[in-house]
Order: sequence, then C-alpha cells, then structure tokens
Amino acid sequence: MKKYWLLIWAVVVATSGCLKGQDDPVFPSPDLTIPQDENVTLQSALPFPIGAAVNNGLIRSRAPYRDVVIKEFNSLTAENAMKFSQLHPAENTYTWTEADFLVEFARQNNKRVHGHTLIWYKNPPSWVMNYQGDAAAWDRLLKNHIQTVISHFKGKVVSWDVVNEAIAENGTLRDCIWLQKLGPEYISKSFIYAHEADPDALLFYNDYGHEYGPTKRNGILKLVNDLKAQGVPIHGIGLQMHTRYNMADKNIADAINTAAATGLKVHIAEVEISMNPDNIQDLTYSAGLAAQQKAKYEFLVRTFNAIPKNQQFGITTWNVGDSDSWIRGEYNRPDWPLPFDDNYNRKAAYQGILDGVK
Ligand code: G3I
Repeated sequence: MKKYWLLIWAVVVATSGCLKGQDDPVFPSPDLTIPQDENVTLQSALPFPIGAAVNNGLIRSRAPYRDVVIKEFNSLTAENAMKFSQLHPAENTYTWTEADFLVEFARQNNKRVHGHTLIWYKNPPSWVMNYQGDAAAWDRLLKNHIQTVISHFKGKVVSWDVVNEAIAENGTLRDCIWLQKLGPEYISKSFIYAHEADPDALLFYNDYGHEYGPTKRNGILKLVNDLKAQGVPIHGIGLQMHTRYNMADKNIADAINTAAATGLKVHIAEVEISMNPDNIQDLTYSAGLAAQQKAKYEFLVRTFNAIPKNQQFGITTWNVGDSDSWIRGEYNRPDWPLPFDDNYNRKAAYQGILDGVK
C-alpha cells in the first residue's frame, strides 16, 4: 500500500514539478532502490551520530525532505546558514533568523547541532574584505565575530568548525585575508577565542582532500598536531570527504586512520560520493554505478566504525537527496552523490551505510 502511494506521489511530482524550483536540474534515476526495513533508520542502526547538512528553505517547503531529516538523522549542520556572510553581513549587523530557525528545528526534534563555520577563506563578506585597520583591529574583528557567534549559540550548538580549509593543495597554509592580516596565528587565535566564549564546545579543524594523498593530508596533520603541541584548545578534525565512487579504498582508509592517529575526535563532516567526476553530460545512473556507490559508502562507514569509539564524532552527509546536493549546480552535470534519490527514496548507498556496521 505504501509503495502504491509512493508511486502516485512520484507521478505527481514528475508531472507538476511542484517540489522543484523552475531552475533545478532534474536527473531522475531508475528505480534502483532495494527493499529495506522501514522500521530501521540510519539513526537507529548506527552506533555513532549520523548527520546531514540541511537547507532551511527545503525544511520549510519540502515535506518529504523534512520528514527524512527527522526520521533518519540525529545530528544537523547548517549547509550555509551559519557562515560568516550569513550571520554577520555588516560590521555592526548580525542576522540570526535563519540559524536560529535551524537550531530551534533541531531542538524540537532532538537533534545535535554542529556549527559550520566560523573562519573560512571563502566566506568573508565584502565589509571584511574591504576592512581597513592595523593588526590589533583585525584581531578584534576576528575575536568579536567568533565570540559573538559562539556566545549566541552557547548551550545549543555543541561543536564548531572553527577554521575551515586553511591548507592549500600543496600542504602549506592557504593564502587568505586572515593570513594576510594576522599571520599564521589567525588559526590558533580562532581556537583560543572560541574556547574562551564556550569552554564546553568541541572545536574542530575542518578540511577537504585528506584522501587525495599525502601532500595535502600531511599539511593538515602537521597543522593540527602543532596546535595540539602548543596547547591550543582543539578537540576534533573534520574530514569533509567530498569524494567519488572511484576513489581508492586505500586513500579513504589512510585519510581516516591518520586523522584518528592524532587522538582527536574525527568527524566525516561533509560526505557525498560523486558518480560522475568526469562530467559526462549524458551519463545515466545504472545498477552498476549504484552497486559501486553502495560499496564505497560501506567501506567508508566500516573504516570509520573501526577507529576508537571515543573518537567517533560522527558522519555527516552533505545534504539529503541527490537533487539537493551542491554538486549538480556547481559542476552543471548529472550526478547522484547521496544516499537518498531525488524523491527521497533510500538508494543502494543507504544499504551500504547500514552494511558498514555489520
Ligand atoms: O541564496 C542565494 C540566492 O538567493 C541567490 O539567488 C543565488 C544566486 O547565486 O545564490 C544563493 O546562495 C548560494 C548558496 O549556496 C545557497 O544555495 C550561493 O550563491 C552559493 O555560493 C552557496 O554555495 C554554497 C557553498 O558552500 C559556498 O558557501 C553551497 O550551497 C554549499 O554546499 C557549500 O558548502 C561547502 C562547505 O561550506 C565547505 N566545504 C565545501 C562545501 C561544498 O562547496
């Protein structure tokens, strides 16, 4: 009976476009779902927190999205609502509405909230890029932003990506406004200021590309190990894991295991597994691809589940259904990177996640 209603719903969606924006690319996948026990969910089956990055607009407007978020996940990250430009668009203006909406949604539904992100090279609003001041003024700007944001969410947001993507592909510190104005200490200062504002918050360094190979990974590991050695309050390392179906298992294992060797908590913080990294415009999602994606999700989860329990902060997927992923828009290509399809049906990848803890 349930399947019957799902079918009707899918037809309505396909014909009316009622759940999609006019400009959303649609790359429907064939029905590659596999029978699964509806009484089992990700949050009930996994022995560590399982999160999703979420988009407030979709929580408000798309009931199936909201329902899946509530049913399947127990940890939430704002995909965009807590970034610098969103929260602090002008020097003396903070806009809390969207982030507060998400925090309240999480509270009502008993979800953990992970904060993303305080300091990121990519995100400063134009007032920061144009800011005129000496080093002391830049230091105050950094401190004020971090401490105002952390204080606002104190007791509601348990953890933060304090600094995001500070390492370049060659393993050295990435050039950015914060490095230019404050030197390499902008990173340790960010953690110290965050800890002052909320000593209970778990503070993460978050980056992508640990699985690419040793060059970038060693830069990241050196950074976090140096922070630890200096006594800087850092509690976790985030591996974004925006990865692809043909990434070697060894690279994924090396990424997770070297992160765990730091002794910090490990967050697989933004995972999706792209199925079309070569941008093939007429690619279709096949049973073969679905099987490869399932295997890759399973390997990732199995590897994470093998690190020490007290270091397993959790795994967070970067949004929920394939059509919600930033990948299609960013690369203008068909892709199916997430464990739920365009209509929020569970994919084979979903079963792969469950199988990873068996
Ligand atoms: O909301 C506006 C809309 O009003 C406007 O019409 C439209 C026009 O471009 O832009 C919309 O904002 C976009 C926003 O996503 C919401 O969709 C921004 O342009 C766009 O830059 C923004 O992209 C986000 C990106 O970070 C940059 O902040 C992606 O959604 C988000 O998935 C992505 O997430 C990052 C993580 O924070 C860090 N790690 C990498 C990851 C993927 O790039």
